Amino acid sequence: MVRTAIPGPRGAALLASQSQRESNARAYPRNLPIAVARARGCFVEDVDGNVFVDFLSGAGVVSLGHSHPELVATAKAQLDEFVHGLDLPTEAKDEFVSAQLRMLPAGMRDHMRIQFCGPTGANAVDAAIKLCKTATGRGDVVVFSGAFHGSSTAALSMTGWVGQKERIANPMPGVHFFPYSYCARCPLSLDPDTCATNCVAVLENQLRDTHGGIATPAAVVLELVQGEGGVIPARPEFVTRIRELTRELDIPLVVDEVQTGCGRTGDWFAFERYGIEPDVVVASKALSGVGLPAAVIIYDERLDVWAPGAHSGTFRGNQLAFATGVEAIRIIERDGVLDDVRARGEQVRRRLSGLPARHRHVFDVRGTGLMWGIELADPRTGEPRGDLAREAQRRCLDRGLILETGGRAGAVLRLLPPLVVTEDVLDTALDIVEDALAAVTPDPTVKARIPLETTESVSAPPAAGPLLARAARMPSLRAKYGPATEWADVPVLSKDELNTAIEELLSGEPDGRGGAYVYASGGTISEPRLSLIPGDMFVPDILAHWQPLDPHDVVVNLFTPGRLWSAHYFYNAVAAASGAAVVPFGGLADDELDSWIDFFQAQGCTALAATPTTLKRLLLHLGHSGRTWPALRKLLWVGEKFDDATSALVAKHLPEAEVWGLYGSTETWVIGWNTPLCRPDTVHPLPYQYVELRDGAILITNTHERCVNPLLRYQVGDVGEFVDCPCGRPAAALRVLGRVDSYFKFLNQLISPEELVGLACGIDDVLDAQLALLAPGTTAERLVLNVRSTSDSRPGLPDRVRSHVLAGHLGLGYVVSDAPAAFEVGVVDELASNDRTAKTPLLVITR
Ligand SMILES: Cc1ncc(COP(=O)(O)O)c(C=O)c1O
Repeated sequence: MVRTAIPGPRGAALLASQSQRESNARAYPRNLPIAVARARGCFVEDVDGNVFVDFLSGAGVVSLGHSHPELVATAKAQLDEFVHGLDLPTEAKDEFVSAQLRMLPAGMRDHMRIQFCGPTGANAVDAAIKLCKTATGRGDVVVFSGAFHGSSTAALSMTGWVGQKERIANPMPGVHFFPYSYCARCPLSLDPDTCATNCVAVLENQLRDTHGGIATPAAVVLELVQGEGGVIPARPEFVTRIRELTRELDIPLVVDEVQTGCGRTGDWFAFERYGIEPDVVVASKALSGVGLPAAVIIYDERLDVWAPGAHSGTFRGNQLAFATGVEAIRIIERDGVLDDVRARGEQVRRRLSGLPARHRHVFDVRGTGLMWGIELADPRTGEPRGDLAREAQRRCLDRGLILETGGRAGAVLRLLPPLVVTEDVLDTALDIVEDALAAVTPDPTVKARIPLETTESVSAPPAAGPLLARAARMPSLRAKYGPATEWADVPVLSKDELNTAIEELLSGEPDGRGGAYVYASGGTISEPRLSLIPGDMFVPDILAHWQPLDPHDVVVNLFTPGRLWSAHYFYNAVAAASGAAVVPFGGLADDELDSWIDFFQAQGCTALAATPTTLKRLLLHLGHSGRTWPALRKLLWVGEKFDDATSALVAKHLPEAEVWGLYGSTETWVIGWNTPLCRPDTVHPLPYQYVELRDGAILITNTHERCVNPLLRYQVGDVGEFVDCPCGRPAAALRVLGRVDSYFKFLNQLISPEELVGLACGIDDVLDAQLALLAPGTTAERLVLNVRSTSDSRPGLPDRVRSHVLAGHLGLGYVVSDAPAAFEVGVVDELASNDRTAKTPLLVITR
């Protein structure tokens, strides 16, 4: 959805104009350099037509999303009636007060009063302090490190961020900072698991100590989740003890719910989650639900000692905000928005809780409801890494996600989506966040634990996070992959699971496919299955390493109907990208082959592109008809391992052809490439294909950011080894040795014993059958298929079985055509006992 560089040209012009005319204090445009044209729901469109998911929500203001249509209609209607009311009573205001009081816990409603303040959070914080000072006759205020209460002089005095206030002389006096329960960086260096919230003890000690230096304060002001301070939820015991202590010492407890209020944490106010009743609640941001300014303090009536006019202000009667505030509460109740906030919060927790294990620079992940923070730090020193957070923020912006940073050194990425964010949008945004983290945290997987005794890989394992996130989008995979946090714990994906996941992807939003092609593929040796391959088929990435064609080439693009269409489209794209001419071809019958080869030769075709299976068929035909195709200079294959027997046939029948290969399958797409200088069975993995060998079996994970399949540690079915390639490339190459399962190599050809025996049993008078491989690996290697018959008279049965099997098993037929004596069929009365029953019940290997 991001079409231009950020900022785009029109945005850049507005930003430039702004920088010349507005104060140097401007803040958000510095790290989020966009100029907004319009916004709706969770999305913001800039003046250049780029659309972003908005996880800033106007700093937590637009709780029901931008320009919620019902709220817009309510505001418009009110605009026609009455707008600015000072503190005169109106119906809109009366309903607003009723709605606000109704949202309080039952025990509080009857004894709380409301004061409307100037429209910002800081205005309300100021009001709360004035109220408490007046009511108690005291002058000091207790606040906490890391707090943010606003930018007015008084609120700033109560804010922890020293950089913001050190150049402002004469702040409000009598403000005392105490440690906050920031357990990830305990101010007392205690262990959160064993600590009994001792940081409250500091406050308690100071307040009770007659020589503690602080007079009993007018108020203790607390954020239950520090927002700007880095999304730090207070520890429950900390809050409870503060409430008890302030009661014991008769100090009004003010909770600043400017950011946490109005549903942000999944309760209307965060104090409800902590099971406390404060004396003063400060609220502002999301009161109107749609961004119209309003601020209130809601306080215990016993504090209501203000004289008439004690806290006045012009902008205290925003009727539009009152009307939409009432409507917002109605919508929140009607649509169960708070339940959704809790559910979405759990979604975030599930997705992000494993991050610190996966990224060594992720120091902590914390939050509640729809208020989350990811803190980045140097893994050795623990120093906050604001630079990484800003880089991740920028990457998110470039990928279409707006989010803010906060906390010490700005090292916390803060997620503050509208409360109405959907599961899908949240997932997409979290994907972007995870990708950004993977990109900015160098050496992301140092923490990963790989059991090296069984697994080896050609490169460092990829960050599991973004990949797991991909898998977690599929309900069928979520349960399996959700618990994994470290790479070594990521389970291997089975073919069935992949198929189910792809079905789920296909049944979802069309956009969810991310511009992919859908293929139904039978491959060469298995059941038909589906796959999704990115629309560009990674052609540019592959051609960065593998350039078999030049503009002089004329490519015959042969494909087997109904199989591996992906390969066919891929070659067309490769030819187009290389400037070569292409002759797309398919469905050739054997008896047409000769005349078509004549045609290709006459047309000056120089290259042939096919899958190994189709290629073998052609080679087989060339062998049968005893002809060669000397003008063919290049042979391109993509698919399963290219074996030695095929190489030998190429050398014999296509003597001038250089072989260029791509190893892979529709599920994994292209894993690696080779050139005529490499061994045909050895490939160089593409940089985004993470290759592991687990007990020899090849596992592939596609880490390309545009990979649509949830392809995680997918076992391709071949075994391999890492080798030095004769081409001399320094990095280890992957040599593909053969199948991991019961497929076996006979005269270097892949054979399925089950398939052969199945073919034999398909003949009417065959009861059962058994395959024996004799003298494997020697020049006397032979395959014997023994059958038992249903009848005693079995005239010509061995010949019938033989020709039926050879016709049905392409690979075997092709091998046997070169060595007819290598395959024989016998009829027996008893099948031999088989000691390899577990894996290949039908295969007996004897010497
Ligand atoms: C907890 C808290 N209190 C007060 C404020 C100040 O609100 P305003 O910027 O509307 O003055 C903020 C703003 O982010 C806040 O998060």
